[in-house]
Amino acid sequence: MGSTPPMKSMKPGIMRPMRVLGVETSCDETGVAVYDTEAGLLAHVLHSQVDLHARYGGVVPEIASRDHLRRLLPLVREALEAAGIERADAVAYTAGPGLVGALMVGGGLANGLALAWGCPVVPVHHMEGHLLAPLLEPDPPEPPFLALLVSGGHTLLVGVDGLGRYRRLGTTLDDAVGEAFDKAAKMLGLGYPGGPALAALAREGDERAIDLPRPMLNRPGLDFSFSGLKTALMLEVRRAEAAGRLDEERANIAAAFQRAAIDTLVGRTLKAAREERASRIVVAGGVGANALLRAELAASFDGRVYYPRPEFCTDNGAMIALAGALRLEDAGPPGPILARARWPLEALAPPGALGVAA
Ligand code: KG4
Ligand code: ZN
Repeated sequence: MGSTPPMKSMKPGIMRPMRVLGVETSCDETGVAVYDTEAGLLAHVLHSQVDLHARYGGVVPEIASRDHLRRLLPLVREALEAAGIERADAVAYTAGPGLVGALMVGGGLANGLALAWGCPVVPVHHMEGHLLAPLLEPDPPEPPFLALLVSGGHTLLVGVDGLGRYRRLGTTLDDAVGEAFDKAAKMLGLGYPGGPALAALAREGDERAIDLPRPMLNRPGLDFSFSGLKTALMLEVRRAEAAGRLDEERANIAAAFQRAAIDTLVGRTLKAAREERASRIVVAGGVGANALLRAELAASFDGRVYYPRPEFCTDNGAMIALAGALRLEDAGPPGPILARARWPLEALAPPGALGVAA
């Protein structure tokens, strides 16, 4: 499971090996992991709340916070046991962006553990965690690279020049792409979370049967927009329903939606790669698990594309433990909990320059 510490070239010299406990509670996954700055990932455990929220068709913040409270401590015990340690040398936690109540559960426990263990605590930016997740794999990418961050809350193209050196190149003007998948799935009567369900249904459909727009593809700049596509999908669902043909057309509509969304992502990413002269692209976040996105990027990009393994595409504690290990210089004593609903990635700075706590 272990690997050599990634981003070595940018990494401040750590005097001795440190075991960092990572805690992720920003949304509906409770994730805990232990990352060793020399031996790599020692353990990771996860509890998904998907079943709890499914009947509401989306994440209910209060239910999420309560379930994190219930699950977190047993998961910490499990991760420490799996790593073969009794305590960590530092604790990293997701400080934002995310649901504030859910973040406070993880931040509270992280600060409490650090106080009990007499060790430092590192607040981590959730999207930096996603961005660094491919570094948990063997043969990790070295900066500079282009990152496409695609999740339920974000659609971002980022120029990564080093740890904490992020330039936002493009973002969505409305819905995040994962959110668009989730809403499209809901309109098609599929379960939550919609992305994997829609992708599975799309495999049975003909994407050419229905023509949907590829928003922004012919516009200048590198921003995204998915609300027009969502409206077009809604009109197709209504048309099929009115014709009494929704059941037979459902898979075709799903396939056409997925194709339009992925074409948009790939088109913008290739444009950014050309402008940045990037030879490496990192794709991270839940939508990075999408098989069509992976196939299209592999077929159309000349350089190399890096992904985390599928379980580290979606939210997890391992990426937070790793980001915390790389940001140990930003660690401080236990204190006020940092919990931010909104927090632009480009507001971060390299470690040691108040990169996360500012
Ligand atoms: O990164 P993540 O676990 O949580 C957030 O930080 O949002 O991403 C979850 C999002 C959801 O919108 C989910 O529907 C989407 O990722 N997703 C997918 C796939 N797997 C997960 N979207 C498209 N295709 C998939 N295979
Ligand atoms: Zn996420």
